[in-house]
Amino acid sequence: MTFGPKTTSLDCGLGHACQFCPEETHCTLDKPLHNKRLIENRLEEIGHIIVVLANKGGVGKSTVSANLSAGLARLGFRVGVADADIHGPNQSRFFGFAGGRTRTTYDGLKTLAFEADGISHPVKVGSLAFMLEDDSTPVVWRDAYKHDFIHHLIGSFDWGSLDYLVVDMPPGTGNELITLCDMLEGSDVSAVLVTTPQAVAQMDSLKAGRFCNERGLPVIGAVENMAGIVCPHCSEEFHLFPDAGLGEALEGLGISRLAAIPLAPELAMGSDTGQPVVTERPESAVARAFEPLIEAVAATGRAGFDAAVAHTLGEVFQTNLEDEALRTALADLPAGQQEELGDEIAALLSQETGRLRDMTGRNGAE
Ligand SMILES: Nc1ncnc2c1ncn2[C@@H]1O[C@H](COP(=O)(O)OP(=O)(O)OP(=O)(O)O)[C@@H](O)[C@H]1O
Ligand code: SF4
Ligand SMILES: [Mg+2]
Repeated sequence: MTFGPKTTSLDCGLGHACQFCPEETHCTLDKPLHNKRLIENRLEEIGHIIVVLANKGGVGKSTVSANLSAGLARLGFRVGVADADIHGPNQSRFFGFAGGRTRTTYDGLKTLAFEADGISHPVKVGSLAFMLEDDSTPVVWRDAYKHDFIHHLIGSFDWGSLDYLVVDMPPGTGNELITLCDMLEGSDVSAVLVTTPQAVAQMDSLKAGRFCNERGLPVIGAVENMAGIVCPHCSEEFHLFPDAGLGEALEGLGISRLAAIPLAPELAMGSDTGQPVVTERPESAVARAFEPLIEAVAATGRAGFDAAVAHTLGEVFQTNLEDEALRTALADLPAGQQEELGDEIAALLSQETGRLRDMTGRNGAE
């Protein structure tokens, strides 16, 4: 990806959309083209996008997004979390950035970096909340702006290279989700559904499941949140709601139940204090309840990494095979340029080999 202040005849190369640009009023470049390229460039750098959704509000989408992101980061992945909830952005608070602000740079809007013990790559958090005057400012946006916002969220934030971008959706399968699905068509994207055990929430999550099936959006599985309570005295788990047949209903849609997260005060407290429970108390029962979800998402990514490794290895070999041709081509250049280009190619190959070693090392370590 080539963001930065490089100006070409076709594109400025800036890492943010024109709406954030001080040059916007007098710039004569092709702005729609710039905004389109911006998203294409970002998506090229993101390995796998996980959309966390539910048809219903308050079932735990943001809680699951935050703990899934932190859990993936604990496994060594480079993770970003994009808060797509325009009306109730929560990720800033869940990662301890309440009141945090972003700034515009050549490379785009700065994400805020969440660090914790056991995480080698900080989780990059991008949220509309970083652009509001204060956290209680209500956002009243028309649909056209919402459309733009989803584009800015993915395109204008400086996500850098990521293994996963987790997108925390607002409730429902409306405008934001449709815009996102349209934008991500052709990208490596999957969904995680969140539901609670009550029959009414289940019906709603089934609607979300049907939406995914109709849109061809692969669903990794569903998370049943607030599934029961762990007794603080005897550690016995008991259920608050009668079993409304979630497992069977999901099965009918070809969706598996990945994890059951208990109703746990430390989870709510973790959200309030900005410390996801999977990094703050990784040994606790509630943190461990997230493990099957995190593992399932990691497994989809690993399949992608293996394919990427195989593909890139193929390209590296191809380059080696063409060494002879390269030498012949270089021989036609003036002496100074031969050396310069040779060095550039060597540096690129060494960088690529390092990246492959890192990726395979990380996969092998898990
Ligand atoms: N398993 C749980 N145990 C205890 N509290 C929980 C649990 N899951 C979520 N909560 C709390 O419930 C509230 C709602 O959760 P959350 O914000 O994650 O839901 P949401 O689906 O993202 O809501 P919205 O639709 O408003 O975006 C939060 O205060 C959160 O801390
Ligand atoms: S207005 Fe858009 S195209 Fe022009 S310099 Fe700014 S970001 Fe680039
Ligand atoms: Mg939410």
